[in-house]
Amino acid sequence: MSDKLIDSFGRVHNNLRISVTDRCNIRCFYCMPAENVEFMNRADLLSFEEIERFVRIVAPLGVNKLRLTGGEPLVRRDLHQLIEKLVCIDGISDVGLTTNGILFGEQAQQLFDAGLSRVNISLDALDADRFKEITRREGYEKVVESIHIAKEVGFDPVKVNAVSIRGMTEDQIVPFGQFARDTGVDVRFIEFMPLDADNAWERDKVLFASEIVECLTREIMPLVPLGEHDPSAPATDFQFEDGVGQVGFIASVSQPFCSNCNRFRITADGKLRNCLFSLEETDLKSMLRDGAEDSSIVDAVRTSITAKKEGHEINTAKFIQPDRPMYSIGG
Ligand code: 5AD
Ligand code: SF4
Repeated sequence: MSDKLIDSFGRVHNNLRISVTDRCNIRCFYCMPAENVEFMNRADLLSFEEIERFVRIVAPLGVNKLRLTGGEPLVRRDLHQLIEKLVCIDGISDVGLTTNGILFGEQAQQLFDAGLSRVNISLDALDADRFKEITRREGYEKVVESIHIAKEVGFDPVKVNAVSIRGMTEDQIVPFGQFARDTGVDVRFIEFMPLDADNAWERDKVLFASEIVECLTREIMPLVPLGEHDPSAPATDFQFEDGVGQVGFIASVSQPFCSNCNRFRITADGKLRNCLFSLEETDLKSMLRDGAEDSSIVDAVRTSITAKKEGHEINTAKFIQPDRPMYSIGG
């Protein structure tokens, strides 16, 4: 076994997020522009074979968890075929998917059969009008249906990602708490991060995890922390006091988890990023296409991980929003 991917702060990188497309069938305002999105050329997207080769190269470095992201990963045709390839790779213990849920229902069984182990479905509002306001598209019913199908097909756990935005989602907190209790789905509230294409993020628009905890406690009942907290997991998980319903919080702005981060990313066009917020990237696509040896690719990955910054600095005046918005990085 080769040496693990350890950065200069001692963080071990075992978790790779793979974006398979920057295209999406909805237009969440905190991620994409409303219209006229410039998408990557299809020829620039890594092929499934290139992705597979890359994972085979990094798996011996201790990478055991993968997550497929987008854009919306399910608009990439035959995604289940990629999953089939990835789950067979030695050392890969877990392949997850983050999807907006619009197409998930119709592909759920196929994805499950391909070996997908976890699914996170994004849904920011339990109300069709609010959904449309946020996503600027129709589709609310499909997403809710997909969440139920995910359960029925046997995904366990099923997680819902809800981005929390001040002035927009406060009245969704209690419905989501009830939804978690009624369905057994794990609802995770995510603080709105400065990765929007419109550059309209403001600190004042972040609805803090602590406020949501307070609201759920007051309106439903107190929350108790759930078991041992995995320090590299970005969410802190809680259960309602009576044991019914689980909620989690990804407090990326108010309580960054950078000090325990174990993740790195590859964009759909083959750029390696050591952080969501990094301002630099490594062009792996060129290496993969220009006949680079595996050992050169390993060296490039190590160089990138070694250069990883301590944290994202959103809370400082130094913060610079990356040029790539979320849809082009992969969530
Ligand atoms: N802030 C917080 N979360 C975001 N996501 C996309 N953009 C942002 C942002 N600016 C979430 C999506 C999805 C996941 C990929 O990341 O809602 O759940
Ligand atoms: Fe699409 Fe996801 Fe971005 Fe929403 S957050 S526009 S679902 S890529």
